[in-house]
Amino acid sequence: MQTVLLINGPNLNLLGQREPETYGYQTLKSVEEALTARAASLKLTLHCRQSNHEGVLIDHVQSAGRTAAFAIINPGALTHTSIGLRDAFLAVGLPFIEVHLSNIHAREPFRQHSYLADIAAGQIMGLGPVGYRLALDAIAEKLAAAAPHSS
Ligand code: DQA
Repeated sequence: MQTVLLINGPNLNLLGQREPETYGYQTLKSVEEALTARAASLKLTLHCRQSNHEGVLIDHVQSAGRTAAFAIINPGALTHTSIGLRDAFLAVGLPFIEVHLSNIHAREPFRQHSYLADIAAGQIMGLGPVGYRLALDAIAEKLAAAAPHSS
């Protein structure tokens, strides 16, 4: 089975209690559980990682570059600051979809630039946790289309 890495960045461990009017009431644990079940039904293995530390996230991207077929990342505030995270994806050539719960273009000007957007396979935002599922479904289609046909 191919592996997909789900990465959530700083403060996303507080989902459900953190500014719920912006980020909703669902906890990260329940998002990860629902996505893990969906991945299994798509015949994919999901590895879930969350950290508040940039270097730890970079380490996850580097090691997933050797093992995972694709990643889904909500980089949180690092979206708007981290050249290091961008360089990690480029260094290992790990394709990814960038997800945001909120519509970053409808918020403060400093949230409207992403250091990852132009190297992402796609970007999904403003749809709440549904965005993670849409990203996973898109990845499953992409991987199936890239797989050698058996007949
Ligand atoms: C976020 C948007 C970021 O600007 C913010 O720093 C987050 C969450 C989102 O999911 O909407 O932590 O990535």
